[in-house]
Order: sequence, then C-alpha cells, then structure tokens
Amino acid sequence: MDLQNKIAWITGASSGIGEAIAYELAKHGCRLVLSGRKTGELERVAKATQLNPENVMILAIDLEHPDQAENWTNQVVAKFGRIDILVNNGGISQEGLALDTNAAVEAKIMNINYFGNVALSKAVARIMKQQGGGKIAVTTSIIGKFGLPGLSTYAASKHALYGFYDSFRLEVRKDNIRILLVAPGFINTRVTLNAVTPDGSTFNKNSPAQENGMETAAFARKYVAALRSNRTHKYIGKKELLSIPFKTFFPKLFYNIMFNMNEKKMQNR
Ligand SMILES: NC(=O)c1ccc[n+]([C@@H]2O[C@H](COP(=O)([O-])OP(=O)(O)OC[C@H]3O[C@@H](n4cnc5c(N)ncnc54)[C@H](OP(=O)(O)O)[C@@H]3O)[C@@H](O)[C@H]2O)c1
Repeated sequence: MDLQNKIAWITGASSGIGEAIAYELAKHGCRLVLSGRKTGELERVAKATQLNPENVMILAIDLEHPDQAENWTNQVVAKFGRIDILVNNGGISQEGLALDTNAAVEAKIMNINYFGNVALSKAVARIMKQQGGGKIAVTTSIIGKFGLPGLSTYAASKHALYGFYDSFRLEVRKDNIRILLVAPGFINTRVTLNAVTPDGSTFNKNSPAQENGMETAAFARKYVAALRSNRTHKYIGKKELLSIPFKTFFPKLFYNIMFNMNEKKMQNR
C-alpha cells in the first residue's frame, strides 16, 4: 500500500504507540487525524509531525462514549472528504484483581477497549465502503492471546477484539476493506502508569516489563511496515512474544510459570 497523501486517522495519538505511529505515517506522506482526550497533547504531537497544519486535524474523542462514533467520523469526512486508514489504537490497561474490581470499572475498560473501538471501526467502514475501500489496523495485545493476574478485564477486552475482527474482516472483504490486527508485546509507554485500578483511580506506577520494553519508534516502524503489507496479523515486541507458542505447545508448564512469576511479583510489591 502506497501511503503518500493517504488520510490516516489515529486514535490514542496523544502518547505512546499512537504518537510514534503518527510520526512514522507523517514521514510516509500521510495526512493525519489525531484523536484522544487530551487536546493539548494532540497539539504537541501535531506540531512534532512537522506537517503543514492544513494536513493535520485534531479531533478530541472519548472512546468511553461509543454512541459518538458516527459524529466523530462525520467530522473527519467533512474536513478531508475520505478516510483511507484507521489506526484504531486508543486503549486503557488495568492493575487489579478481578475479585476486588467493581463492575463500573469493568464496564469502563470494555467501553474504551472494545465497544468504543468497534463502534468507530463500523462508522469508518461505512465510509470506506462508499469510497471503494480502505484499511483498518487495530492494536490488540499479546494479552489478547492469554491472560495474566491483575489484567482480567483488559485481557477480556483484547480477546474480544479478536472475535469481532476475525468475523468482521470476512464481512467487509468484498467491499475492499482490509483488517490488520497488531499485537504488541511490552512496549515502553505510559500504559501501566495510566492503568485503571479496582476503584477507578489511576495506577500511577510503572512496571519493569514496560520500562525494558521495545522503544516506540522501533515499534512504529514495524507497525507501519505491516500496514503497508497484505498481512492480516502481526506480533511486535521482544522475547515476550515467545509466550505465544509456549502457551500453545506447553499449556500446563505455561500456567505454572505464570503463577509462580506473579506470586514473586506480588511479594516484591
Ligand atoms: N505499551 C504496551 O506494552 C502495550 C502492549 C499491548 C497493547 N498495547 C495497546 O496499545 C494501545 C496504546 O497504548 P500505549 O501503550 O501507547 O499507552 P498510552 O501511552 O497510555 O496511550 C494510550 C492512548 O490511548 C488513549 N486513550 C485512553 N483512554 C481513552 C479514551 N477514553 N478515549 C480516547 N482515547 C483514549 C490515550 O489518549 P488520551 O489520554 O488523550 O485520551 C493515549 O493516547 C492500547 O490499546 C494498549 O492496550 C500496549
């Protein structure tokens, strides 16, 4: 896929993975729509892309309100006339045991990571269908392939994305809409710091896994390379990606190791 002059809408563009993808897509000649809740951060990213201001749109969205997806999409179409690429990336992580977590927090995570994500893809796919095609890239997670203690609802939301998009990709293929799922391993962003705790507050602590994770610029180069290709799925990360075949081939050993690792982690807190 040639990216020159394409209209690419990135959610979660105010930090981390989405921010780095914005810089990479700008380098490839895309015109950008940058979305998230923090307008000030989106403006900082817009400036740093060094794109001509008329080629960048800042659109504040809160994925916790999926009923707004069509309204947001209409605003993008009003500005640029079309949407070639959606990088559906915005999301929130979790730090807290399932038995301690109230239902409102679970609903918040599912709204942002699943219902908001899906509503946006549906609204954008309707536009892509009218214009003759497009590409939707969705940021899932390796935690969409297995679970870990403290991440039950987050894991559920990312697993749910696989269920939805593996069906949706078959429904929209005849409309020339292609779906790419990207599963990051541990990437060095603020995702753990920004995670929601059982009472709804922000976790505000980082984890060694995150701090030692892949840098966002390297991650974004691989993400955009996958976007340009015909791939349907891509894992991006370091040695943590080995957990996927390990769980597939040695499930009992996998669960024992994960249990013991977590017990140690809890003792060190
Ligand atoms: N970093 C990793 O190791 C890792 C691993 C696997 C998957 N992921 C996934 O990668 C994606 C990006 O995360 P990140 O690592 O870049 O973390 P991050 O630095 O915390 O970025 C999260 C982004 O999502 C946006 N966001 C959060 N809640 C939102 C809401 N209610 N409405 C709209 N936007 C919202 C944030 O923007 P605002 O605060 O401006 O709203 C921010 O731009 C997420 O889907 C995450 O699950 C990350």
